[in-house]
Order: sequence, then C-alpha cells, then structure tokens
Amino acid sequence: MSAREWGSVLLCPVCGAPLAQAAQTLRCAHAHSFDIAREGYVNLLLAERRPPAVRGDAREMVQARRRFLERGHYAPLSAALAAQVCALLTSRAARGTRPLHVLDVGCGEGHHLGEVQRHVAARLGSDAVQFWGMDSARDAVRLAARRHPDIRFFVADLRRCILLADGAVRVLLNVFAPRHPAEFARVVARDGALLVVIPAPEHLMPLRAELGMLEIETGKREHVIAQLAGAFRLASMQEISYDLSLGGEELRDLVAMTPSYWHLPPEALAALAGQQGVRVRVAFELLVFARYR
Ligand SMILES: C[S@@+](CC[C@H](N)C(=O)[O-])C[C@H]1O[C@@H](n2cnc3c(N)ncnc32)[C@H](O)[C@@H]1O
Ligand SMILES: [Zn+2]
Repeated sequence: MSAREWGSVLLCPVCGAPLAQAAQTLRCAHAHSFDIAREGYVNLLLAERRPPAVRGDAREMVQARRRFLERGHYAPLSAALAAQVCALLTSRAARGTRPLHVLDVGCGEGHHLGEVQRHVAARLGSDAVQFWGMDSARDAVRLAARRHPDIRFFVADLRRCILLADGAVRVLLNVFAPRHPAEFARVVARDGALLVVIPAPEHLMPLRAELGMLEIETGKREHVIAQLAGAFRLASMQEISYDLSLGGEELRDLVAMTPSYWHLPPEALAALAGQQGVRVRVAFELLVFARYR
C-alpha cells in the first residue's frame, strides 16, 4: 500500500457522494472539494454559523495524552485492541473482498490505532487492511497524521455523520470516546464488529475521588450495551486492570488528558506535578460487539 491513497470509501460532508482523490484534493461528483493538508489529513468539518469554541479535546489535552501514552502506560490496552482486531480480521467471516476497512472514531492523537495498525500489518501484510481515524479535534488529527503515515485521518463530527460509506467498516473502534449508535449501525458491515472501551468503576482510583474528578456513570457498561442493542449484541468482554505508580508531569498529564481538564482549577493540575510515587489503579473494559445480520 502506498501511504494514504484515499480511494472512494470516504463521503462528501456536503452531499454524501463518494469523494475521489485528484492530486492533493478530494472531490465529489458535485464538485465539493477538500484539500489534503500538508500533514496528510483531511478536514471535513463544515463551516457553521455558530461554531463551538472547542470541538472535542483542547490542544493541551491532546498534548498531555500524546506524552502520557507514548510512555507506554496504556500499552496493555493497545495490545489487547491489536489482538482483538487481528483475531476479527483473520476469522472466517473476514475472508473475502479486500481491502478490509478499520475505523477508530474519536481516535485522538492516534496512539491505539497506530499500535493496532502496526500489529495487523505485521500479521496480515499492509495491503489487506485500510485504517481510518476520525476525530473532531483538529490538533489531535494533525498530530496523529504526522506520526502514522499509513493511516487516513480526517476531522469530522461524530454527532453528525461518520462520513464512510454504508457497511464499509469491518471493525469499528471506539475508545473512551462518544458514541452514535445509528451511525455505528450504518457504517459497520453485516459481518463486522464494534470494539468499545470504557472505564471500569475503579479506573483512576483513589486519585479520582481525592481530586474530585468527574465520576464514571453508574452502570455504564449496561447503558452502553442498551444504547447499542438495536444493531449490536455483546459477543465478549475483556477486563484489563493494573496499578501504576506515577509522579511529576506524568501524573499531571494523566489528569489533563481526561474531561476533568475542563473542571479542575489550573492550580490543582499544576500541584499534581509536584507529587511523586502516587499509586493509581487503571481499569478498562473492552466490549466486543457483533453486528446483527
Ligand atoms: C478521551 S479522548 C480518547 C482519544 C483516544 N480514543 C484515546 O483513547 O487515546 C476522546 C476523543 O473523542 C473526541 N471527540 C469528542 N467529541 C467528538 C465528536 N463529536 N466527534 C468526533 N470526535 C469527538 C475528542 O476530541 C477526543 O479525541
Ligand atoms: Zn459533495
């Protein structure tokens, strides 16, 4: 696979027709066109009369997440995702038309998707699968595109439309990110799968309680399963949990990369950087959903 040819799976955000690539531009049959940025991503957000001040994560959150994740603190999660995606793509159902498409919605700065892509390419070769990353935060997508030249990243708002063709996605990833069940159902292939990662109740304890960080909704897993029940059934669940001992900038980054960034006073965040040896529980639930046929 040559790096980032865009093909015709991506849809025009104005009219919904397929986008085709001509040099450094993507264009639909109705002449709506979108330039491919220097870093190699495409911005498909449309101008709004009253755009929100921030779309998705703020730049400081994105940078904190990049620093934190590249230190390998969530490596067990990336590895579990990679193993699940490899298994799903090599299953009997996944033989057939190539390439298969894998999309990460709310991909952030691309760490987990990058790890998944690396493992899948090593296992299946780089031509068999095309990887896509979508996020509404342009800063996140820009960082992601710079680091992962074999993945197609685009900026778009999940609340509106995922902008990939109906049934195109064999595996959809949704890691600590918002969900749009109707759009998930539209883009995932009939024999495809959806992997959702949510925090388990003890995630980031006891720090979460001590700092007054945003709480994890009670019964979150049941809520997610119910939310997706129209098109997806839970096929399996994997729990991943371990302790970290953190201090200094790492501790500050861990908190700054969560939505609590918006709620905690800057002094509270800054004070974290002065602490050392703070024990934090990390606990994820990886939910694997199969698409009803
Ligand atoms: C907690 S971060 C997780 C990022 C990444 N999945 C990871 O685990 O490293 C949530 C991500 O969802 C993105 N996001 C929030 N609202 C969104 C929307 N409406 N459309 C697309 N992405 C959105 C944020 O910009 C952010 O990158
Ligand atoms: Zn168009």
